[in-house]
Amino acid sequence: MEHDAWRQRWAEGRIGFHEGSPNAFLAQHVGLLAGRERVLVPLCGKTEDLAFLAARGHQVVGVELVEDAVRAFFGDHALAPDVTRDAAFVTYRHGPITLHAGDVFDVSRDRTGAIDAIYDRAALIALPPELRRRYAALLRSLVAPGTLMLVVTLEYPQDQMAGPPFSVPEAELRELYRGCTIDLLDERPAGGRLREAGIDGAERCFAITMR
Ligand SMILES: C[S@@+](CC[C@H](N)C(=O)[O-])C[C@H]1O[C@@H](n2cnc3c(N)ncnc32)[C@H](O)[C@@H]1O
Repeated sequence: MEHDAWRQRWAEGRIGFHEGSPNAFLAQHVGLLAGRERVLVPLCGKTEDLAFLAARGHQVVGVELVEDAVRAFFGDHALAPDVTRDAAFVTYRHGPITLHAGDVFDVSRDRTGAIDAIYDRAALIALPPELRRRYAALLRSLVAPGTLMLVVTLEYPQDQMAGPPFSVPEAELRELYRGCTIDLLDERPAGGRLREAGIDGAERCFAITMR
């Protein structure tokens, strides 16, 4: 999806991906992130997971294309963030939460600072195949070996529905993060749009130790 299409979705409130409460896989497996201070949340939208991670003592660094979504997160939580602006990003900060509004592909280590963990829910699967490879390479470039990533994927017959969300089979995940240690933590039948359309799919949660 092009940038304008995402902006339009947010402007029109077509954000069926927004869960409105902490993700069930994250709630179940967040203990794996214990002791890892700074957590990067790419393509974060206005997910409640940001607040959930902050409440667990993490410093949270989100990146989201659509500034309205970033503003909505702080508005929903009645927080008044400090706002700074540079050529590539508008950055909103409040307490342990820093959200960069801009294109994730403009992010560098200078922007994120040291990252101890990554949480990817509806981020990898929001990107078309050609961008997924670039995205995985970007994440790998942002962190040191040993960094832990929790990633939630979705798999379904791609010919039965156009993404996003896209189907990312386990084999593709393993290819994107080749050389990393990849453990399947959890799995459940996919709900939401897929179930409504009568399409069988699976949501999976993996722990990836970056190399
Ligand atoms: C499917 S939503 C998931 C949001 C969030 N992770 C959640 O669980 O609710 C994908 C988000 O990625 C954002 N996005 C799309 N392309 C992006 C890009 N190139 N850089 C940063 N954010 C992007 C969209 O605006 C959208 O909010």
